[in-house]
Amino acid sequence: MQKVYIFDTTLRDGEQSPGVALNTAEKLEIAAQLASLGVDVIEAGFPIASEGDFNAVQQIARTIQGPIISALARTSKSDIARAWEALKDAKRPRIHTFIATSEIHMQHKLRKTREEVLAAAVEGVAYAKSLCPDVEFSAEDASRSDLDFLCLVLERVIDAGANVVNIPDTVGYANPDEFAEFIRAIRAKTPNIAKAIISVHCHNDLGLAVANSLAAIRAGAQQVECTVNGIGERAGNAAVEELVMALYTRANYYQAETSIVTHEIYRTSTLVSRLTGMFVQQNKAVVGKNAFAHESGIHQDGVLKERTTYEIMNPKLIGIETESIVLGKHSGRHAFHDRMTALGYSLEGQELDAVFFLFKALADRKKDITTADLIALMEEEKKAKALCLLEFLQVTSGTRTVPTATIGLRINGNLYEEAAVGDGPVDAAFKALEKITSGGGVLTNYLIEAISGGMDAQGAVTVTVEFNHRAVIGYGVSPDIIEASVKAYLHAYNRALDVGITTLPLAKVQEA
Ligand code: KIV
Ligand code: ZN
Repeated sequence: MQKVYIFDTTLRDGEQSPGVALNTAEKLEIAAQLASLGVDVIEAGFPIASEGDFNAVQQIARTIQGPIISALARTSKSDIARAWEALKDAKRPRIHTFIATSEIHMQHKLRKTREEVLAAAVEGVAYAKSLCPDVEFSAEDASRSDLDFLCLVLERVIDAGANVVNIPDTVGYANPDEFAEFIRAIRAKTPNIAKAIISVHCHNDLGLAVANSLAAIRAGAQQVECTVNGIGERAGNAAVEELVMALYTRANYYQAETSIVTHEIYRTSTLVSRLTGMFVQQNKAVVGKNAFAHESGIHQDGVLKERTTYEIMNPKLIGIETESIVLGKHSGRHAFHDRMTALGYSLEGQELDAVFFLFKALADRKKDITTADLIALMEEEKKAKALCLLEFLQVTSGTRTVPTATIGLRINGNLYEEAAVGDGPVDAAFKALEKITSGGGVLTNYLIEAISGGMDAQGAVTVTVEFNHRAVIGYGVSPDIIEASVKAYLHAYNRALDVGITTLPLAKVQEA
């Protein structure tokens, strides 16, 4: 079996998804989960891009054990020095430097000649190597580059010390057979290629990111770059869970394996979805809600007789447990603690008290508490430490009344209160919120869904709110959909405050 290295770029390329704005604590939480998932490399960020990115990379480098921690840099000295500054305390650091090699990028974006690009690539790699023993070079837009020129660049950067050479399909233009042929040609035409690991990085513009990555593995690529749930720039990147499960399920075909702990896949997917606010589509392969749901009677009958009739993967393998015990309002602290431990949360002391309190409050409003509810509770608990908290919400609406909402927010110990009318109760609530937050946010997207089945399912709302022209996603859950909507808006607002793209309200304090 050939080993395939999993290079996860959820925290860098994934974070480039429109509307995603993770703070350092959230990035650390995702990085810790990626380490539990067993990825080989975590690309933690692009340190020159912002102070926030730098801090997150530095903290991940200092605290996350196990995987290689990588940071992105263009080929300029300042970018590379900044990446190294953030990375240098990692046990296993990697500098990842890149420059575009396609005519279209060199001419129109970089305005550089081939010679200039070649020189920049070699100088960048040599400088990175003088700082860090592990250096990766990416030829951006490689799949649209001239093969001979690309191979020349790869040869020279390997001579300059690159340990890994990455072949990105930056704009998702490649097709599987063609991309495999491209990788084979690179191997044939780059004389020193055996001295480096060949990596691929595929985007999903034509829905082919995973297929192209798998084809590249068949052609000799040893590392694949991917993200959890396939999030990323535009249509996203290759999805780690799909790649890993394809290699696992069809090991007989690919003759390749990864070090991924498959049982952690579902937990990782859920965490990333909740923290980024990027929903996983229901029919998404491997981790979508319907991935193991059998609707047709014939299929159900088959699965009941023998699971493998219609299931090529066991859901347990990716960490999806069918509900054995459903908790409810009579469940005690002990049963609750056991269930949370089984879900992978180690709750003790005050944290256990706080989450158990939320659980009891939810159980008063909802009969059966499912796994999805418990995971959502944990997220709500984390939000309880946010700067701006919902103190109260009162809404009137109906067929013959003007929808009105009154909202109280607790910010830094002070209560801010506003009322507004709107086209509907959610609109009224958002208008009241906008008044308190000084009208800074513009709602551009609103999505609601039930997080589990049944009449009493909780509503989960995802919103995109633009603050100073930067989109931020927020997520809120409650048995009451107006409360879920307000929580989602506040989540986005707190995140915008965290990353400094909005400020605290100037509205009058109503009560100390
Ligand atoms: O898509 C791309 O080309 C990239 C590189 C920076 C690796 O993300
Ligand atoms: Zn990319």
